[in-house]
Amino acid sequence: MKPKRITISAASQHVGETVSIPGWLYNLRKSGKIAFPLLRDGTGIMQCVAVKSALPEPVFDAIKDLTQESSVIFTGKIRADERAPGGYEMDVENVEVVQRVPEADPYPITPKEHGVDFLMDHRHLWLRSQRQHAILGVRHEVIRAVRDYFDSNGFTLVDTPIFTPAACEGTTTLFEVNYFEDEKAYLAQSGQLYNEATAAAFGKVYCFGPTFRAEKSKTRRHLTEFWMVEPEMAYAALEDVKQVAEEMIVFVVGRVLEKRRAELKLLERDVSKLEAIQAPFPRMSYDDAVKFLQSKGSEIQWGGDFGGADETLLSQEHDRPLMVDGYPSSVKAFYMQPNPERPEVAMCVDVLAPEGYGEVIGGGQRIHDYDLLLRRIGEHHLPKDAFEWYLDLRRFGTVPHGGFGMGIERCVAWLCGLEHVRETIAFPRMLYRLRP
Ligand code: 4AD
Ligand code: MG
Repeated sequence: MKPKRITISAASQHVGETVSIPGWLYNLRKSGKIAFPLLRDGTGIMQCVAVKSALPEPVFDAIKDLTQESSVIFTGKIRADERAPGGYEMDVENVEVVQRVPEADPYPITPKEHGVDFLMDHRHLWLRSQRQHAILGVRHEVIRAVRDYFDSNGFTLVDTPIFTPAACEGTTTLFEVNYFEDEKAYLAQSGQLYNEATAAAFGKVYCFGPTFRAEKSKTRRHLTEFWMVEPEMAYAALEDVKQVAEEMIVFVVGRVLEKRRAELKLLERDVSKLEAIQAPFPRMSYDDAVKFLQSKGSEIQWGGDFGGADETLLSQEHDRPLMVDGYPSSVKAFYMQPNPERPEVAMCVDVLAPEGYGEVIGGGQRIHDYDLLLRRIGEHHLPKDAFEWYLDLRRFGTVPHGGFGMGIERCVAWLCGLEHVRETIAFPRMLYRLRP
């Protein structure tokens, strides 16, 4: 009978059984009489033990000659061992070498230190390392938690298009593409405008997909392609938007702490910092934020947008995300609802993650008045034609509404405690990075 195929993560259910585990050779320690191949299979890493005297000679020779990242199927008996990395080991009885990586052209990523450019050039292979594996595991959990949060709170997922005829977040970061004959299209910067349409159909919606910004700046927070989750609610004011943002973040952080302890440990993340993420979050007006920043020596003047350094200063002050509201309308997008008592500021909120991570969420209330919106479209020199459908939403049953967008990569960088967003997505796209 052929031994059952299992994954390393399922080893605990097969103690004492002879099983097969397909995977890749992560590492190999050996002497003349015994070899300890470390097998990885995507679900975990397992130490295997191959004893020369217990194995047919060709089997032992094949194992001791294995090279890093060769693909192999090990067969053997599972044994519990407290000292082993995952708590279980395999006493090897047989091996099938699917492909042996030749010495002449060895796996390029070795346990020694490599520079970040080298690793980025080999991103397709770097993903196999434990650290990258852990980060992408957390990313997966964040995405699942975000979906669970909205799905169980009355939001309907309605995906929005990626080819769009007009800008949402300012014309300076648009990626233009040829869309047949004479038409130009732009890659979506945000699904928000379409969310506003679907919110009028469903009440509460969210979209979740890739978004694109031709960001010419090289920072540790910017990608040119990133994933954003964007909820939108009809009959909602700024306060409702803040509440959902707060609740969602607490939920997502809680879920990651619950399910991804092992990954956080591997990343040496101080989880006490994440355990502190509880409601209510501190709130601050833009006005007060400017005063605070000036007191810390920032050059910021009222009316300017915060730079990365300003956001870092602000978010270092608190052990929870900080909600900053009431930015000057002039630094925000055309659709932002002005404060009726102070039209020079917008009914918007940015959520700044603690520990210096900066903005993870941007959102607010949208202009629901037809005339005002039309005026803003003009002031921003946006093509009215392309926005006719958007204006329709103010012609037919307009209501106060709002929502926000959270960048998944920035959220993952924060939760994993990473310096740079480039490690939070499998194949990052940045100003100087389009490959692999
Ligand atoms: O603040 P932003 O530009 O807001 C919007 O796009 C709104 N239309 C969202 C909405 O209200 N529905 O972007 C929202 C979030 C930021 O807080 C940040 O987390 C992320 O998207 N983000 C980026 N992440 C990585 N690279 C970039 N270049 C990003 N630009 C924005
Ligand atoms: Mg923003």
